Order: sequence, then C-alpha cells, then structure tokens
Amino acid sequence: MTTAGSPFLRACRREPTAVTPIWMMRQAGRFMPEYRAVRSRLSFLELCKHPEAAAEVTLQPVTRLGVDAAILFADILLLLEPLGLGLRFAAGDGPVIDRPIRSPADVERLPEVDAADRLAYVLETVRLVKRELSGRVPLIGFAGAPFTLASYAVEGGGSRNYLRTKGLMYAEPVAWHALMERLAILVADYLNGQIAAGADAVQVFDSWVGQLAPDDYRAFVLPHMQTLFRRLTPGVPVVHFGTGTAGILELMREAGGDVIGLDWRIPLADGWRRVGFDRAVQGNLDPAALLAPPSVIREKVREVLAQAAARPGHVFNLGHGILPETPVDHARLVVDLVHELSARDLPAFDGPAAGIAG
Ligand code: CP3
Repeated sequence: MTTAGSPFLRACRREPTAVTPIWMMRQAGRFMPEYRAVRSRLSFLELCKHPEAAAEVTLQPVTRLGVDAAILFADILLLLEPLGLGLRFAAGDGPVIDRPIRSPADVERLPEVDAADRLAYVLETVRLVKRELSGRVPLIGFAGAPFTLASYAVEGGGSRNYLRTKGLMYAEPVAWHALMERLAILVADYLNGQIAAGADAVQVFDSWVGQLAPDDYRAFVLPHMQTLFRRLTPGVPVVHFGTGTAGILELMREAGGDVIGLDWRIPLADGWRRVGFDRAVQGNLDPAALLAPPSVIREKVREVLAQAAARPGHVFNLGHGILPETPVDHARLVVDLVHELSARDLPAFDGPAAGIAG
C-alpha cells in the first residue's frame, strides 16, 4: 500500500487535503507510559541501536495518538559517533560529547566515514517500521542540520550561548567551512540512505540555528544547507526546521526545503507570508499549550488553524518537541481537534465538490 495520497504527503506538496495532517515532534518519548516501559529495559542509546525496539516506539504514537505520520525513532547526535567524537547520554544532563572539535587540527583529524554504513541500524529500523506500518501513515526520516550538529560537536554538549561554536566560526572560518561541508555531505548521504530504506519524507533539524545573526547565517550556514538539499534524492518532501528563526525565515527559504518549520514565537500567518505561499509550512503550537486545560487547548488549536486559513500546504505540529510533562490525553485531544476543526474548514476553501484523493 502506498502513502502518496496521505494528508501529510499531500500537504507537503501543497495539495488540498480533507483534514489538516498533524504529527508532533518528539511524539515518541517520555510522556508516554508505553515508551517509558521500553526505556526501563534499555538505555537511550541501546534503544536507538536496537531496531526492533526502536521500531516499536516509533509506532506507539501512531496507535495511541492517531497522528498522520510516524517519525523514525533515533537521534540527530548518532552521526557524531562514527566521527569518533564519543557520545553519551548522561542521566539528567543530556548529551555529552567526550572529544569535542575545538581547533582546525580537530577538523582535519575527522575520519572519512560512510554514514549509511555506520548507521545501518537506523536504516534497519526504517525498513522494520515501513513493514509494520504497511501503508497506514507515511514515515518521516530525519537528521540534524550541519550547524546544530556542529554546535554539539564543538561545545561538547548542549549550550546556552554557543560561544565556542561561534568562536570557531569567527576565528577559524576556513576550518568552520570545512567542518560544515563535511557535515552537509554526511547528512545528505545518511538521509539518502533512509530514503532508499523507505522513508517517505525527511526532516532536517536545525534546532539551534536561530541563535545566529542573519548575516552570519548567510555567510556561515546557508551555502552548506544548499549543498545538503541539492544532494538529496529528488521527489521526497523535505522539511526544514529550526526554532527562534523569525529573523532568518527568508534565508531558510533560500537555503531550501519544501516545508519550512515555524515555531510559536511568530504568528503562523506572518511566518508563512515571509516564507512565501509557494512553500508549505509546519507548526506552530507552543508545546506548553498541551499542559493547559482542554478548553484552552481547543482555542489555541483553533487559532493556529485560523492562521493557516485552510490554505493547502499546512502540516500541523508543535513549534518544538512535545514536553515530557504532557498528559497523553491532551496530546490525543490536539490530534482529534486538528482533524475535527480542520475538516469543517475545507469547503470554505476548496468547494464541496472538490475531489480529494485519499
Ligand atoms: O520526534 C521523535 O519522536 C523522534 C525521535 C527524536 C529524538 N530526538 C528522540 C530522543 C528526534 C527527532 C530527536 C531529535 C533531536 N535530538 C534534536 C532535534 C530536535 C529538537 O528537539 O530540537 C536534538 C537537539 C537532539 C539531541 C538530544 N537528544 C538532546 C538534547 C537530548 C536530551 C534532552 C532530552 O530531551 O532528554 C536527547 C535525548 C532524546 N532524544 C530523548 C528522546 C526520546 C530522551 C531520551 C530518554 O528517553 O531519556
């Protein structure tokens, strides 16, 4: 069974859909008891490297929440392991990179690696998920964008101000560009591996790129994003996501992607106008809204849908990942509300007689 006519893939292509499709970033995760049950047996990295278990948690939100797409269970930082940087998830502290990149010599020392080969366990998860989904909903593959990956590789973990990353960028621009070029090619190869294994769409997470001034984005990031997007297998929708990006939306559009992610710091209508209506957008409910009472959630969902004005090309999502504190019932409510409220909107836009291929 094919998913080509699914609401999610149709929306990525800006085709009309019977309902606005919705999925939620980090939809497989700690807020779900069934995820915590699997995690109690395996560390996070073990879970990522165990295709049967990773496939199981990938499918949990599809069943439990009724979302319109599955997202592969993995992590953007897995790619740093084959580069020899060392990767750990320390309980409570988030990711730790033991051998960070701090100098031009560190960049030069990076080994040549075949990403798809070294992360073959992720590709196996893709194949297992595709088999088990048997066409119910499409599967989204993903990777980190070069800047966001570089930020972890250089800082050695998460960061507040990205001082070491920006330090390398400003003081050693040649090494910076070499690093970004390497990462762009690695990420593209890895995503193409996921596509070959069956991913129906891919999302590039540039989660922290909103930390950059627009001129720095243009000089230090944009050319590498263009390299990445140009190398991707054609015909597969690409979502380009970041947070805090209100200052660089036009540049992100220029960089590439069929669907541009928007967070809640900008009204969706403003963001979409800036991105251009010839692209699709994804977003942009504040994840914190899912902790609100149901009546408030309903109004917030209605507002995001109103901002999208039933224009084809809106994928409903949160502006960033779902929070671990989220009640499962509230996540389910958001999915149901998006379907209910957007279905009512369709005739106003498309005319009642419009044929919507399932
Ligand atoms: O969206 C999904 O459901 C798919 C799975 C997914 C995970 N990480 C699982 C995960 C995806 C798409 C990611 C992407 C990711 N990972 C990003 C980009 C998206 C974003 O949130 O901005 C980033 C920056 C990372 C790096 C990362 N991984 C951090 C900073 C952390 C620790 C913080 C935290 O939430 O604990 C992780 C761990 C991680 N990745 C968890 C999950 C479910 C929690 C691990 C656990 O079970 O303890």
